[in-house]
Parts: sequence; C-alpha cells; structure tokens
Amino acid sequence: MYSNKVRKRRGLTQAAVRHTLRNMSAITIKVNGRTHTLDVDPTTPLLYVLADDLDLRGAKFGCGLGQCGACTVIVKGQSIRSCITPMEAVDGAEITTLEGLGTIQKPHPLQKAFIEEGAAQCGFCLNGVIMTAKAFLDKKPKATDEEIQQALSNVLCRCFTHVRMFRAIKKAGQEMAR
Ligand code: FES
Repeated sequence: MYSNKVRKRRGLTQAAVRHTLRNMSAITIKVNGRTHTLDVDPTTPLLYVLADDLDLRGAKFGCGLGQCGACTVIVKGQSIRSCITPMEAVDGAEITTLEGLGTIQKPHPLQKAFIEEGAAQCGFCLNGVIMTAKAFLDKKPKATDEEIQQALSNVLCRCFTHVRMFRAIKKAGQEMAR
C-alpha cells in the first residue's frame, strides 16, 4: 500500500509513513457491490484508497480541497467529495463510483446521453459532473434546466461544454423517469 510510488504521490515522508503504519485499523467498505476490508490509517482520504488500493480511477484528484468536484462519489445516495472524506467516516458504507454506473455494453443513461450529445471534452471533470448528476437525478429525474444548473453549480469545468452537458443530463433524466 505504501510503495515509494504511492508515498511520493501522496507527498508523504518516510516518517509519516511509519506514523501511518502504527495507526492502521480495519475498515470495511462496499464499493460498486463488492465488499472490501482494508487496513488503513482511518484519516486516509477515501479517494486515495479507491485509486491506490482498489485501482478505481474514475474519481480524479483535482484540487484535493473539496472545491472542484473531480473526486465525487456517491455514498448513501449523496454525492460526496472523496478527497476530503476520511476512511473512518465511510466505515460500513456503500459507495458507488463511476465504474459502478454502467458498462460499455450497457451504459448508464447519463453515460449514454453524454456520448450522444458529445458532451465530453478533456474528461477530467467528467467524473464529478456525472456522479453529481446521478445523485441528483435519482431524486429528481424530471428536473428543470434551472434545477440542473443549480445542482451542478459547484462542479468546476474549464472546457466550456456546459450547454451540451446540461442537455445530456436532461436527456438522461427523461430516460431515468420512464
Ligand atoms: Fe476533491 Fe477537488 S479533488 S473536490
């Protein structure tokens, strides 16, 4: 878990790794239907565990401060920022990541609509947009344009494909409502 590559990516010193190893505890999470029990420092951000331990790279490291949304996953129906969510806060929780939404053969309505509308550009923010939209549409599939814009207002994207994204989200909502 603390290979040199992982240690350097997380910006940890050797001393910090030793401290972490002394504070490990077993935490169980269910991710995309699969249960995992991991020995981790309880303060480790969920995002690190998803990427480094479970090899799930859909959630992205953007700001690392809970501000951009690139790391969004869904816990108990709510979209959350996994970069600032410690593992101890999700012990026993069911988590859905982008990888749990659909497959190439059977994409989720959101994934299908984003492809059809050509709404992806660089793709970095896409995880945050799609996961935030999913949590929102699960509760309100027949949302208005204004409600969709409001729900997505704190997910940052520099690509300027917002119009296409909003169109795709509305289209997906119509399919999810059926
Ligand atoms: Fe988590 Fe930006 S990386 S909110």
